[in-house]
Amino acid sequence: MALGRPKISILGAGATGTATAHFAVERELGDLVIYDIVEGLPQARALDLWQAGPIRRFDLSIKGTNDLKDTKDSDILIITAGKPRQPGMSRADLLSVNSQIVGDLALKGLEYSPDAFIIVLTNPVDGLTWAVKKKTGLPRERVMGQAGVLDSTRYRAFLAEAIGVSMRDVQAMVLGGHGDAMVPLVGYANVAGIPIRQLLPEEKIQAIVERTRKGGGEIVNLLKTGSASEAPGAALVEMAEAILRDQKRVLPVTAYLEGEYGYRDICLGVPVILGRGGVERILEIPLDEEDRKALQVSAEEVQGQIRELAQLA
Ligand code: 2OP
Repeated sequence: MALGRPKISILGAGATGTATAHFAVERELGDLVIYDIVEGLPQARALDLWQAGPIRRFDLSIKGTNDLKDTKDSDILIITAGKPRQPGMSRADLLSVNSQIVGDLALKGLEYSPDAFIIVLTNPVDGLTWAVKKKTGLPRERVMGQAGVLDSTRYRAFLAEAIGVSMRDVQAMVLGGHGDAMVPLVGYANVAGIPIRQLLPEEKIQAIVERTRKGGGEIVNLLKTGSASEAPGAALVEMAEAILRDQKRVLPVTAYLEGEYGYRDICLGVPVILGRGGVERILEIPLDEEDRKALQVSAEEVQGQIRELAQLA
């Protein structure tokens, strides 16, 4: 990292990019650049957010731009740009249009910030993270997707509400791809160390698992035009902070696998240690038979995306 404040560039000034900027300045993560192709949009978002500084007590540079040159020397490039998911549209439908957008942004972004980490949010995130890994040739430590932190925060929130405890005390992870076959782990989920099976009946747990799997769709259906943005923004900032502040957080991250969990040449949500080295280590935790099978189903979905992407290339 260069001396001085870290620099984070958010590529895509839609609702999620805006929420990401908002959470990032609240944590004073660093100076921000918000980029978009729509003229005036990122400039407006940046100016609006920056003007909240005296009240919210952050003192950072926030620049909106239509020129990727302004992202020069970023520590992290967060890619949220792409077409949003509409009702009735699967994440996979977005594949071909968004792979072009995200791939181009990653390559051009790296020209100006050759040492940056890349975090992909755009859907379908597993396939697109794989595409960015392939297109850029970056080591797997530096390119990752955000999905598991979002899916896990939804899972944790639903569990906290059902059990009637503070969200802060619920620890739980969702692995696999960011589709309806994602794998909310039940055996490892706990409240202050107490396994959730001691606190909730199995059918309630299974209902929460299902609601988590469809958590993105629930919001799409309510909004009708657009998708979730606040929790995805918070999740991105959690990852960026872990990297910039070398926190060694254990988070579920869409990482490029080289044999872990029995998978290779695929990006899939797995627990990793996230610090200044990026994806510093992938944690291979034992999974029971049911979770292993569920992970297989989810991985097959992602493999389908990768096959389509390989054909597009
Ligand atoms: C979600 O799960 C849009 O994929 C995003 O809300």
